[in-house]
Amino acid sequence: MTRSGEITPLPAQRHLFDIPDDVAFLNCAYISPLPKASLAAGEEGLRRKGRPWTIAPADFFTTSEAVRALFAGLINASADDIAFAPAVSYGMAQAAYNIPLTKSQKILTLAEQFPSNVYPWMDLAERSGATFVSVPRPADDDWTTALLARIDASTGLVAVPHCHWTDGGLLDLEAVATACRRVGAALAIDATQSVGALPLDVKRIDPDFVAVASYKWLLGPYSLGFLYVAPRRQNGRPIEHNWMARRDSEDFAGLVNYKDEFQAGARRFDVGERSNFALMPVVEASLRLISEWSVPRIQTTLRLRTDAIAERAHAELGIGSVPSHRRAGHYLGLRFAGGIPPELPAQLAANKVYVSVRGQAMRVTPHVWNTDEDVERLFAVFRTA
Ligand SMILES: Cc1ncc(COP(=O)(O)O)c(C=O)c1O
Repeated sequence: MTRSGEITPLPAQRHLFDIPDDVAFLNCAYISPLPKASLAAGEEGLRRKGRPWTIAPADFFTTSEAVRALFAGLINASADDIAFAPAVSYGMAQAAYNIPLTKSQKILTLAEQFPSNVYPWMDLAERSGATFVSVPRPADDDWTTALLARIDASTGLVAVPHCHWTDGGLLDLEAVATACRRVGAALAIDATQSVGALPLDVKRIDPDFVAVASYKWLLGPYSLGFLYVAPRRQNGRPIEHNWMARRDSEDFAGLVNYKDEFQAGARRFDVGERSNFALMPVVEASLRLISEWSVPRIQTTLRLRTDAIAERAHAELGIGSVPSHRRAGHYLGLRFAGGIPPELPAQLAANKVYVSVRGQAMRVTPHVWNTDEDVERLFAVFRTA
């Protein structure tokens, strides 16, 4: 931070990643690369399984508790509010199991929302008789106004992301949460495409559930993610019953003294076998790195990068995108007049420039490993195409 309180961008951190110089990886929203430190932690973790006598009963708990606290720190929650969920679909299944709706109520989602935050609600609608609603994409990219206009007394649940996964279109979650509270609706957020790169404060928003996969903006492994559960929801019923979630499970000799009580807080919602000895150290190393950089600093860094790409794409090539004030700073969806040229994705890949196509947008999602040269490579291909 400078003396005036401005956040200074991070210099490129490419040396912390195993990315060859000729690769321009601008695709964090797809799968992030693991930092070298996380890879080393994972190799060490996997090796431990080759020597199980080095794994003590306490090890089933210590690393996961450290990770719970690290993740909680990113969203201003307490460690007690965090459960382990291997996928967003799993986290949302826990949420759906604990949100009772009636047939006179509505579930609000956004058009073209990621399926893991859609199918659980279609299923809940089918089971409860509630109506599933998909808010159409607004022409002015103002998702917040479009959503707020539909929240009324019949709304039982709003299930949305923090930013749209196709193009970064941003929602004002505090305004959405206030509207939910006013009508007594639950709020479930899929923050997979934001937490780790965009500040999200559960104390300010007060959502019911927030699900986050770790393999994108948390720079973590596949199949180890998180579910924030609001304190008022922590007496809910989990979808599965694993031994570790019960009280006193640290006492392996006493496990058959079956307990009705659960471990504290959101731990009852933990997925079975969550003490994943290979992957838990990986996510721990990644979360430590993100905490050191700090999420506001990552956001400042990536906002500068995506704004520069958006402005140049528009000025040099007439390519559009969601206006800067309506999109998350780490996320860019480029819109080509007349659609994405069919040969462009293959041309980019042939030149080792990695982006992705989702919906109508070409998603360009950089991170702190990217350099100015990566951006030059992207524009070099755009120009030839
Ligand atoms: C917005 C969003 N949510 C969730 C996921 C992953 O969902 P899951 O963990 O259920 O596989 C993705 C993957 O692309 C995503 O973009």
